Amino acid sequence: MLPDFALLPPPGASAARRFDARSKVSVGVFVTGKSTFSRAAVLAIVVMAFGPMVTARADTGYDAWLRYAQLGSEERAMYGSLPAVVVVLRNSVLLDTSQSEMIRGVRGMLGRTLRAETGLPAERAIVLGTLADLRSAAPGVRVPQALRPEGYWIGTGQVHGFACIVIAGADDRGALYGAFDVLRRIAMGEEVSDLRETQEPSAPLRWVNQWDNLDGRIERGYGGRSIFFDNGSVRADLARVSDYGRLLASVGINGCVVNNVNSNPQVLAADFIPQLARIADAFRPWGVRLAIAVDFSTPKALGQLDTFDPLDPQVVKWWKDKAHEIYRQIPDFGGFLVKADSEGRPGPSTYGRSPADAANMLASALEPHGGMVFYRAFVYNSHLDWRNGKNDRAKEAYGIFHPLDGEFADNVIVQIKNGPIDFQVREPASPLFGGLEKTNQAIELQVTQEYTGQQRHLVFLVPMWKATLDFDMHVGGRVTPVKSIMSGQSFHRALGGFTGVANVGLDSNWLGTPMAMANLYGFGRLAWNPDLGAAEIVDEWTKLTFGNDPLVDRTIDAMQLSSWNTYEDYTGPLGVGTLTNILGSHYGPGVASSEKNGWGQWHRADHEGVGMDRTIATGTGYVGQYSPEVQKRFETLQAMPDGLLLFFHHVPYTYKLHTGETVIQYIYDSHYAGAAEVAKYVREWKSLRGLIDGDRYAFVLTKLEYQEGHAIVWRDAVCNWFLRASEIPDAKGRVGHYPNRVEAESMQLSGYTPTDVSPPEDASGGKAIVCEAPRETCTASFRFQRAAGWYQMKVQYFDQNNGSSKFRIFVNKQLVDAWTADDDLASAGLDGDTSRRRQVGGLALRPGDEIRIEGARDGGELAAVDYVEILPSTN
Ligand code: GCU
Repeated sequence: MLPDFALLPPPGASAARRFDARSKVSVGVFVTGKSTFSRAAVLAIVVMAFGPMVTARADTGYDAWLRYAQLGSEERAMYGSLPAVVVVLRNSVLLDTSQSEMIRGVRGMLGRTLRAETGLPAERAIVLGTLADLRSAAPGVRVPQALRPEGYWIGTGQVHGFACIVIAGADDRGALYGAFDVLRRIAMGEEVSDLRETQEPSAPLRWVNQWDNLDGRIERGYGGRSIFFDNGSVRADLARVSDYGRLLASVGINGCVVNNVNSNPQVLAADFIPQLARIADAFRPWGVRLAIAVDFSTPKALGQLDTFDPLDPQVVKWWKDKAHEIYRQIPDFGGFLVKADSEGRPGPSTYGRSPADAANMLASALEPHGGMVFYRAFVYNSHLDWRNGKNDRAKEAYGIFHPLDGEFADNVIVQIKNGPIDFQVREPASPLFGGLEKTNQAIELQVTQEYTGQQRHLVFLVPMWKATLDFDMHVGGRVTPVKSIMSGQSFHRALGGFTGVANVGLDSNWLGTPMAMANLYGFGRLAWNPDLGAAEIVDEWTKLTFGNDPLVDRTIDAMQLSSWNTYEDYTGPLGVGTLTNILGSHYGPGVASSEKNGWGQWHRADHEGVGMDRTIATGTGYVGQYSPEVQKRFETLQAMPDGLLLFFHHVPYTYKLHTGETVIQYIYDSHYAGAAEVAKYVREWKSLRGLIDGDRYAFVLTKLEYQEGHAIVWRDAVCNWFLRASEIPDAKGRVGHYPNRVEAESMQLSGYTPTDVSPPEDASGGKAIVCEAPRETCTASFRFQRAAGWYQMKVQYFDQNNGSSKFRIFVNKQLVDAWTADDDLASAGLDGDTSRRRQVGGLALRPGDEIRIEGARDGGELAAVDYVEILPSTN
């Protein structure tokens, strides 16, 4: 269990705050005459009520963790002695940015406009420059001898005879990062006037990848369309790009690949490069280098050559010329990201060449200009024969890249996903991290939640990333945690680092919900310093995003910190992989979709048991790719941690975990626990009403309520699938028994017809009802037969993405709820992607009441209903 649960407020504390929040809302009642308070008293109440709510201004989420919301008066007073001037010792693009950011931040948080000056200060000042600037301007200030590139020092000293706050970067980027650091401290109410702080990035490369297509769609993007591209061109207005650069810089990100790894060759067309140059211009003031993903067959695909063989002199020349053309227009261009010989992408194997041949050829084209090649190790055969028990996709990257260790050029970085499969909810660290001692490496983490709820589910990924970064690969019997390999420390590499697949989009909150921005923030912070703890990171993020109210911070921190385990509990326990529909959206449940096909995401569940045997002794031999110490941990069941059991072993359902619970009962229990935990998130979020701005409060509440319903869809689908497969009932009698449900197919139907849902576990009883043409409107009704009382009703229905059907709910003749199913979920069918619930609360029901659902279909969407659940009201 995460120790951070201790951060949750005691029940009494939260009740007191709830009262506070309500008293704010009730001010209007006082004023409209229900009280005999004097005008002054009323005013005092108004001030008390709205004074502390400065941070609760309306907010779309656009400014994310850089809101610079005005601090409360007490906190503002702490900064009373802050200098009135911010001086840059020299003008440069990045120093100027640092200066304006300082002014912007201080103005927002403290309500004061710092004066901007250049040169030596003429009074006390905040001084921005590099170590070299400081040494020549103020030799008396004891700045560090040296800092790693992009590091910074924050301290105090006499500059030109005045006591100053000094922010000195190793270089201009460092100064910018230092300025953001000071602003972050102010936002969190920390002292800044007497700092002695040295910060250095863990690794030189801290990049994000965007999987944006040139037409404006984003592969696995859940926050709207591309901020870079539209309709085959770079957008005319790149203001969002500049704002994105600012967010990235604030957490130390220094590069961005702007287009999809499944790259369109057009990105290298002569008329596209000047457009890319405009993106680079927008990023440059923030120190973010532009890079692009390239299609390895471009020399041929763009039409000039009849080959893309990396050893063909014409191809070599083509890339050299292309690099030249790019650098003429983008002098600080970062380089190329390459996905080749993977998932149908062209690659060097077409000509019998290796990834090293391909990467080195590109690298030699970029090297004279200071560019780099990120060559992805996500290379595997997606047509593996599933009948062969020795086949294993997890083995492929190591199998291909380990033999090439030492063959890659110095400006090549092999980019490796955190796990050997594909961003599943839990995977072991990729063995390849330990298998490339003579090669630069970068870890690829996925900020966009492709397999982890697609930003509709709350999943804070930092704890998951940390599990991998802290994992000791024991290379050569030495302590070699993944984070030290990425920093270049373990194997003495000059280059290395972190890439995060971010996929922000045009939604005002960038990722589809303000809560998911914790992942982007966390990615940047970890890339800077992987030793930071998840609790520390989330606490910073919460404070910067929602303000410094202790209840708000404790509540959100605890939700975020537990959210990954919660999601894992109802979607893919014990390392089995995310049990999602891998052939479709990667979103809703689809337990069997990964089996019996060439994609290799198998978990080999059958009547007897579940899990992939990857052992050396009896399985695929994958375990053998780790160092002997790690092998010991994973090879035998005795040493195996429960959390990854099914990733490494095939066991019977009755196999007992270290906790004594059987695997099958764990599957049932964890799914129920996970779904219950989400219901708790909803309650906890509601306790924050009035303490955060109404916009984000309501937005996140809607998301959490949706997640609460969808977690139940997941729970039921996975549990019923395993019940059917194993034929072992749930010892607690829950799975397959739903006493409060009325199945839609058992209701009195008029126009509606029952239909089978596929896979059957995605609907209760395997069936739903649909309203098909020629009917426009259909009804389903039943009589309530339980005791009179207050009830809540949950209508489980399907919100396909191919229409906007309408629903109305009647109790007898009275309309009690109506809504339109117009969400844009991931499928056009009736399945685990589209199944969702509507809650109709506070219904007074009597025995014999008729409950009637009226559904009006629209387009291909059939106003489908799965079941209705009626539960006693909880309040
Ligand atoms: C996943 C993802 C793809 C992506 C691929 C990659 O498989 O579903 O959309 O292209 O990873 O990382 O290359």
